[in-house]
Amino acid sequence: MLVGLLTGGGDCPGLNAVIRAVVRKGERHYGDDLVGFCDGWRGAIEGRTMPLDIETMRGTLPRGGTVLGSSRTNPFKVDDGVQRLKASFADLGVDALVAIGGEDTLGVANRLHHEEGVPVVGVPKTIDNDLSATEVTFGFHTAVQIATDAIDRLHTTAESHNRVMVVEIMGRHAGHIATYAGIAGGATAILIPEEPFDIDKVCEALTRRHERGRYASIVVVAEGAQPTEGSLALKDTEVDEFGHVKLGGIANVLADEIEERTGYETRVTILGHVQRGGTPTAYDRVLSTRFGIAAIDAVHDGAFGSMVALRADRIVRVPLAEAVGELKTVDPELYHGVAEVFFG
Ligand code: F6P
Repeated sequence: MLVGLLTGGGDCPGLNAVIRAVVRKGERHYGDDLVGFCDGWRGAIEGRTMPLDIETMRGTLPRGGTVLGSSRTNPFKVDDGVQRLKASFADLGVDALVAIGGEDTLGVANRLHHEEGVPVVGVPKTIDNDLSATEVTFGFHTAVQIATDAIDRLHTTAESHNRVMVVEIMGRHAGHIATYAGIAGGATAILIPEEPFDIDKVCEALTRRHERGRYASIVVVAEGAQPTEGSLALKDTEVDEFGHVKLGGIANVLADEIEERTGYETRVTILGHVQRGGTPTAYDRVLSTRFGIAAIDAVHDGAFGSMVALRADRIVRVPLAEAVGELKTVDPELYHGVAEVFFG
């Protein structure tokens, strides 16, 4: 069989580990040939490929990013995108595709399968961990660790200067990374999109804490956090090819407001793409490897239109449609029952 692979959307630690696992089991166990499409769906449309075999993947397990490159191209938004993609698959003789991506990439995979009959299996990737149908996506664990390490470092500098530190964390419209890193890093407040925040309450909590003699505080804010209606004005944002707003910068607005209202010196750290870069944690390497093996098995079982997923620590197959149907948000029990206990 000739199996194509592509990685789409924002890069994520563990992508190379998935590719390596697909290649390893595909080549050794099934006798497949493998081909990588460069830069996500863009390479599939343009027929730009790179050869993939066990040799080319050597040494990539601990490497962040993706050897294939990635993009946020949507074939359904490009002129003749879908026809060109199908033509390039036919020219190359591709029998099946493993698409590794988040909501957008897998949404395209789902449509290509159902509307165009493309034989595709999905693998759930995103540091945001916002994909339904899987308990965890690979990359999330690494992002949480990076954010937690940063918060740990911010504690000591905050304490030395009696400052409030506002730390902005990625995650788009879900607060998974912020909630986990905030709990792990002992944050004074964690503001996430799922729980609109009241700036008055945030400042009251900081004041109460400072009155108790704690002069340093860490406020974790998810990039997609929202103030309660009319309580704080945020700037307008641009949208990408998938219609997603470009987030980032809420920490600056929040820090100015906190400093003005409380009088406490406040500083901002926007972690940004550091959270996506570099080597995956051991957990993510193992999860990615398990996903990769399961994906090539699914290809050989003809389980097209499905995505591999983690449920109760087992790898299962779920319909792609289920995976992209609904955003997975933070469990209120984790936020209110655990994180909130440590606020203020
Ligand atoms: O989806 C992953 C993610 O890192 C989000 O957390 C973030 O909002 C977005 O991608 C950033 O996208 P870009 O790399 O295009 O700036």
